[in-house]
Amino acid sequence: MHINRVCLPENYAGFFFLDLYKRFPETFLVVEEKENVVGYIMCRIETGLLGFGISRRKKGHVISIAVLPEYQHKGVGSALIQEAMQSMLLYNAKECFLEVRASNTPAVKLYRKIGFEVKRTLQRYYADKEDAYMMAIKLPFKPSNLSNEQAT
Ligand SMILES: CC(C)(COP(=O)(O)OP(=O)(O)OC[C@H]1O[C@@H](n2cnc3c(N)ncnc32)[C@H](O)[C@@H]1OP(=O)(O)O)[C@@H](O)C(=O)NCCC(=O)NCCS
Repeated sequence: MHINRVCLPENYAGFFFLDLYKRFPETFLVVEEKENVVGYIMCRIETGLLGFGISRRKKGHVISIAVLPEYQHKGVGSALIQEAMQSMLLYNAKECFLEVRASNTPAVKLYRKIGFEVKRTLQRYYADKEDAYMMAIKLPFKPSNLSNEQAT
């Protein structure tokens, strides 16, 4: 919760984190250094109506990912999302998707590098009316080991 508040304007109550952790523990991951959490990702597995119609295919939805500023650009975010995408396969998810602020260049670059594509622009998606890109990638995906090497 601390990292979420430091890094993102979208903040959540404790019960929201706990609910995602209890329902989808395999896709709720943290990175620790010396027993301190320096980054996290939390996701939800969803089925049903999405975008262009009703789909029974399961999809992994990245709800939130953040890395403490002093640990950014070292491969931590890349490792977190790729590990979460592997875990989504345990739930039989066929796709992973997320929303990202159109102005969030570091995040958009990270997702593109992994293989995500922008599927739609969600106009005025955020509370401050900024647009979001809805980005998605088919699962299973081919992991990029470049960033994993950085993270080790
Ligand atoms: C987005 C975020 C999670 C990325 O985590 P990270 O650990 O810094 O990412 P990585 O080190 O794995 O970077 C992988 C790639 O992302 C891109 N990237 C990451 N930080 C970047 C930056 N500051 N500027 C430009 N590109 C960047 C690069 O393409 C990078 O590859 P490279 O190192 O070969 O150039 C992190 O910047 C963050 O916590 N931001 C604040 C919270 C946030 O915006 N979350 C996403 C909400 S959708």
